[in-house]
Formats: sequence, C-alpha cells, structure tokens
Amino acid sequence: MSAIPQLIAQHRGCDDWFARAEAAARAGDWDATAAAWTPFEADMEQHFTLEESQLFPAFESATGMTMGPTAVMRGEHAEMRELFIDLRAALAARDADAFVGHGETLLILMQQHNMKEENVLYPMCAQHVADFDALVARA
Ligand SMILES: [Fe+2]
Repeated sequence: MSAIPQLIAQHRGCDDWFARAEAAARAGDWDATAAAWTPFEADMEQHFTLEESQLFPAFESATGMTMGPTAVMRGEHAEMRELFIDLRAALAARDADAFVGHGETLLILMQQHNMKEENVLYPMCAQHVADFDALVARA
C-alpha cells in the first residue's frame, strides 16, 4: 500500500476505536469503554510518533518549511494529548457526561485535523519527500 492510503487507514482505525469507546461510555459500560479506549490511545500515540519523529522531519528537511503545516499539526497533536488526559480522568471516574463532553471536543478536533493532513499535508509529503512510501511502510 502506498503511504497516503496507509496513513488514512490509521486515522480510520483510530476513529473506529474512539466511536466504540464513546458508545460504550454513553451506555454506561465502563469495561467496554476501557477496552476501546486503551487501543485508541495506543494507536493514536503510534500514529503521532510516526508523524512527529519521521514524517514531519522529512517534510521539513525536504522543504525547509519548519513553521508551516507541520508546526500546526504538532500543535494540534498537543491539544489532542491534553484532551486524552481529560478523557482518561473521566474514564477513571466513570463520569459519562465528562467523557462524552470531552469526547465531542476531541472528535471535532480529530476530524478537522485528519482532513487537513489527508487533503493538504500528505499530498505535499508525496510531492516533496523522496522516500515517502518507504518511510511510512517501514514505520
Ligand atoms: Fe495523522
């Protein structure tokens, strides 16, 4: 698989785990919420790490743009990590209102972020990063 569909598949996989966690929290099934939250957070971290430690640096060194789209994406990753803390706390407290509320904020941020990556940043990476496919395939 070439890199863009592979990265998009990672986004969709995370979205699916999140939808399961959210539905379980709404239903008051905290074991199921935890069972979906744990792989969600792990997969998100793995995806962020691939981007932050490999893809973004490759884009930045290929284009010389260090204050452009990758800086925005790094900032949004940090915002999402802050929300992970709130959601983890809501999960630990079994607070459905807090989980669903923070979850809505995270979902909107995640959707907007993924759209920017999929429609703007990944195509720019495909254009500028010479070994884009190999880099993502390795990770
Ligand atoms: Fe991403």
